[in-house]
Amino acid sequence: MPKVLISDSMSNVAQKIFEKNNISVDVKTGLTEEEIIKIIPEYDGMVVRSATKVTKNIIEAAINLKVIGRAGAGVDNIDVLTAKKKNMIVMNTPGGNANATAEHAFALIMSVLRKIPFANETTHKGQWEKKNIKGVELSKKTLGIVGFGNVGVRLSNLVKGFDMKILVNSKSLESRKSEYPHVENSSFDDLVSKCDILSFHCKAAADGNPMLTKEHMKKMKPTSYIINAARGNIVDENDLNDALNEGLIAGAAVDVFSKEPSKENVLFNNPKAVLTPHVAASTVEASIIVAEMVANQISDFLLKDIKVNTV
Ligand code: MLT
Repeated sequence: MPKVLISDSMSNVAQKIFEKNNISVDVKTGLTEEEIIKIIPEYDGMVVRSATKVTKNIIEAAINLKVIGRAGAGVDNIDVLTAKKKNMIVMNTPGGNANATAEHAFALIMSVLRKIPFANETTHKGQWEKKNIKGVELSKKTLGIVGFGNVGVRLSNLVKGFDMKILVNSKSLESRKSEYPHVENSSFDDLVSKCDILSFHCKAAADGNPMLTKEHMKKMKPTSYIINAARGNIVDENDLNDALNEGLIAGAAVDVFSKEPSKENVLFNNPKAVLTPHVAASTVEASIIVAEMVANQISDFLLKDIKVNTV
């Protein structure tokens, strides 16, 4: 009987699927690297979200491991290169949390444009800041979407009806343009200079270098907003903080940080920044979908050698 370790907390749907498929499953969360190294030789499969860092040391100790499944999209917490060298399959669940992430990006946009967090906090305190709260509308504005995968596409569909122009920067859009008549393919520089809202939905660069730095921010409209619900290192946080303080842009809303969990960050306490703790994908619905997807995919691989959503 194959054996799987679930090392991050996730919907118990995953555990139930493994049990139904006669796959032995242990749920052990919050383990250190050393603790995982000790037990990993027992397992044929491993399931993680983002908390477990599947390091080179873990993979090298995993003498029986055949598959690592990520309940989510990003695999930046897994040393994919070492896993591949060891002939392990790495799978993710693309699309499983795309709607959740796109809806959160939209919520961030509305929050920062309408100053909802400030309005909420001050109203609770009885401060009645009505005179100091003036929002900005979406109508007639230009939204720039960087990356047009599952999340970018979903966000573009969500804003239909808000009377916005949508510019997209994506290498793959040209070949599938006819499917998306509501967006225009543009260069990254065009997005930077023309957008009122610039929202990131792409992978981080492999070398870890930020895609958006102060040089770009200097070219943005002073009334514009940056939204990052993708990965923390895509937008340089120090530059973003400076750009907010120097009035190069009007505001930012950020769900992802260069270091997570983020206990301190240069953006903390910047009144022009709306911040959430990497929860874009954390909805009741998405957590069930990604748990189901990853458990079914791993079961199919271990029992029938079917490979789906390999990275
Ligand atoms: C993902 O990569 O799927 C999202 O960032 C959410 C998560 O970390 O699970």
